[in-house]
Amino acid sequence: MVHVTEIAPEIYRISVFVPEINLEFSHFLVRDEEPLLFHAGLRGMFPLLRPEIARLMDPSKLRHIGFSHFEADECGGLNEWLQIAPGAEPICGLVGAMVSVNDFSIRPAHVLTRDDVFSTGRYRFRFIPTPHVPHGWDAGVLFEESEKTLFCSDLFHQWGHREAATADSIMERCKDALLQSEAGPFANYVPYTHHTGRVLETLAQYGPRTLAAMHGSTYYGDGAKALRDLAIVMHDVLGPKARDGETTSIGTIKS
Ligand SMILES: [Fe+2]
Ligand SMILES: [Fe+2]
Repeated sequence: MVHVTEIAPEIYRISVFVPEINLEFSHFLVRDEEPLLFHAGLRGMFPLLRPEIARLMDPSKLRHIGFSHFEADECGGLNEWLQIAPGAEPICGLVGAMVSVNDFSIRPAHVLTRDDVFSTGRYRFRFIPTPHVPHGWDAGVLFEESEKTLFCSDLFHQWGHREAATADSIMERCKDALLQSEAGPFANYVPYTHHTGRVLETLAQYGPRTLAAMHGSTYYGDGAKALRDLAIVMHDVLGPKARDGETTSIGTIKS
């Protein structure tokens, strides 16, 4: 149930589908002078992921272990990777490092703040904090500037076993995923705050061409449009609902 796909030159998507929960988990390896793994993955998935990484490179040479927020599928296996890669360090935002990572991790984090850029060799990554998008105070994303790949974690979540990458719109399945989550035990997966639209617009302005989602297909296309469409979907599904009689920017609501 493991699939490996090169989604950009020397950037590999290592995806594990878990049929019991109808969900796939993607981990992204940047095979560069200073190799980066984005999403350490669940600790329980480490024995599955390690040989897959080893087919692509020597895992002891990993240098950066990145993730969006402190959660098991993002960084549960962090220490397992740090143990086999003596030169590796976690790389995350200031809040993540101070609140969780530097206590959990066997090695201190390389701390990034807004718009910090680091290089892995041929690639340059910009850190963009995205508090509570998709969730977590510490959330952030990495944007690779030359290929314009956005490592966007749980944004664009899609349930099921999907194609590795697609250039077709993924908005319908993303909307379905949000609606489905809200209707079941995973309701409130993604909070909606007064910052949500602004955070998504900030990401859109970087003009990503590839959206490397953790759960579901990688999307190739107009990433800015996709992010703006996602902002509308999130507002519609998760945003505050106007009440009958309330006056809003579009007039007085009548049911
Ligand atoms: Fe998450
Ligand atoms: Fe996730």
